[in-house]
Amino acid sequence: MLTRPAAVRPRPYRAARTVLGGLTLAYLGLRVWVRARPRPIPYGWAWLLENPWRRHYRHPERLAAACDLSPVDHVLEAGCGSGLFTPALAARCARLTALDADPRYLALTARQTADLANVTVQHGDLAALPLPDASVDAVVLVSVLTEVPRPVDALRECVRVLRPGGRVVIGEELFAPEYARSGTVDTWARDAGLKLAQKQGNGWAYLNTYVVT
Ligand SMILES: C[S@@+](CC[C@H](N)C(=O)[O-])C[C@H]1O[C@@H](n2cnc3c(N)ncnc32)[C@H](O)[C@@H]1O
Repeated sequence: MLTRPAAVRPRPYRAARTVLGGLTLAYLGLRVWVRARPRPIPYGWAWLLENPWRRHYRHPERLAAACDLSPVDHVLEAGCGSGLFTPALAARCARLTALDADPRYLALTARQTADLANVTVQHGDLAALPLPDASVDAVVLVSVLTEVPRPVDALRECVRVLRPGGRVVIGEELFAPEYARSGTVDTWARDAGLKLAQKQGNGWAYLNTYVVT
């Protein structure tokens, strides 16, 4: 009877290793590519934002609670995407402006919030926010800052529209190829004139809160 030499792995094991290695390499390649030239997520990838697995670590209600909003706040959710978090955030503040640079994503948010009287859906760019100075109490940026070519300038825009004592809440997720580490975001925030107030979450999905200094 023929026996397999002990050093040779069974075929399914090798196949799984090859697939996993290929996927890891593809992910790392994509990561290098998008970090070199940050760009908005394609509209065709909207399903990635809404996938049920994401809700386990980015549950909309838990994220909204972690933002620590006040019932009198005017909140800007910039880069609202498909509006996954918009209703939960709107339930915790007086008024919410949901802004996105892509009108197709905005249309999804408008559909999600059609029956919410305190939500305004607005087309705009983080690089030049269509809001007056000192007009909002909190800015929420979930998985958007790393898609912007000049994140420090975008944060300076957020500071411009914030009232004194206002806050910026920034969330990033390792799953996204453009992911930046929490410490990198701290540096961007400091350069934009923000001071770290709180860190929540972990390396997989974190949420940092900064205040205007
Ligand atoms: C990865 S999605 C995240 C959407 C949502 N915050 C979420 O976590 O489900 C990023 C969103 O930011 C938008 N975006 C990218 N760059 C932007 C910019 N400069 N100004 C405004 N929105 C931007 C994209 O169109 C996209 O809808």
